[in-house]
Amino acid sequence: MLFIGFAILLTSCKPNNNKVPEKEKKSIDNLLTERYQNLLHYPIDSLAFPRSYNPTVKTIKKVPSKDWTSGFYAGNLWQIYALTKNTAYKTAAKKWTRFIEKEKLNDKTHDMGFKVYNSFGQGLKYDNNKNYEEIIIKSAQTLSSRFNKKIGSIRSWDFNKHKWKFPVIIDNMMNLELLFEATKISKDSSFHKIAIQHANTTLKNHFRPNNSTWHVLDYNPETTNVRMKVTHQGIHDNSSWARGQGWAIYGFTMAYRYTKDIKYLQQAQATAAFFLNHKNLPEDGIPYWDFDAPNIPNEPRDVSAGAIVASALVELYSYTNNKKHIDYSKKVIHSLKSKNYILDASTKVPFILNHSSGDWSKRAEMDEPIVYGDYYFLETLIRLKKLRDTTGQN
Ligand code: GLY
Repeated sequence: MLFIGFAILLTSCKPNNNKVPEKEKKSIDNLLTERYQNLLHYPIDSLAFPRSYNPTVKTIKKVPSKDWTSGFYAGNLWQIYALTKNTAYKTAAKKWTRFIEKEKLNDKTHDMGFKVYNSFGQGLKYDNNKNYEEIIIKSAQTLSSRFNKKIGSIRSWDFNKHKWKFPVIIDNMMNLELLFEATKISKDSSFHKIAIQHANTTLKNHFRPNNSTWHVLDYNPETTNVRMKVTHQGIHDNSSWARGQGWAIYGFTMAYRYTKDIKYLQQAQATAAFFLNHKNLPEDGIPYWDFDAPNIPNEPRDVSAGAIVASALVELYSYTNNKKHIDYSKKVIHSLKSKNYILDASTKVPFILNHSSGDWSKRAEMDEPIVYGDYYFLETLIRLKKLRDTTGQN
């Protein structure tokens, strides 16, 4: 009797084909609106961009514009504006976006796409501002100064010089969107050409035979040979760090959008298959922070990785028509739009989702609300809405 009762309870708790009862849906929608308002009412500060929240010490981590995550906050406001049409979000987005401008001259990092494209680039979609275009072009020129013609790659990092000569991380694929767009705006093909060379070099060297990706490759600038294939944020050099797989899937899907080069599409599909078929991908679609983390299932999840892949697979689906792709995106949104992942109303911080994981190497931001988890969640919502509006499918 007790067993039957337990079985009924389990069945009733199981998500049922993404169908959420009307009352529960309303309460989640209200909660999301409240969460969005936390971003709107957060005090604007040109020097301190909210990056994450540590619930143990109840502290918001704030960073300057040079941090790789600075552009996401403005990007989140632009995207909430797109979803709600409430112009207050657009006004706030414009203000936060402006504070990123000085990064257009920062040649000390490869993170230009994350910072400038996710703020000014998002802004361009909703505000036809010529100055935003100029900032994107200037940023593309600065980023191009990190390109090494002989190696065929943009250098990622300048730190750890005692260890690495020319490190390139898979995350760097994400910066190519800024280069492709800069060519579209300026008609200067040099940015597009650099993006293609970087993508080709990544395609040649960064993937394992099973189509997972290494995190960091270090090149010898004299010989152009790969000196080492290692990790910086994963559990070990040969592990599959979840967000890295996400950057690869998203990066090659996006590169296909601009080039129509079939080999990019094939790589995106192959790495997506590795990710979707992995035995350690949980039922609700939100991966552990590393597929090879030693204590699965008792390891932190990484909502950001799930959201990056969910967003990428909406786009990938538009090229492949593979139902597995769109089903994953919908599953992730179904999981994230629940009290398991949305921060509760009493947590008054400018973030939407809990349970992203940042940087294991520093033991930092593991299982916390992080600004880029929210960014790709919002982007997935927008992409799914567009898909619904254009094809009528739910
Ligand atoms: N480098 C960006 C990341 O942590 O994913």
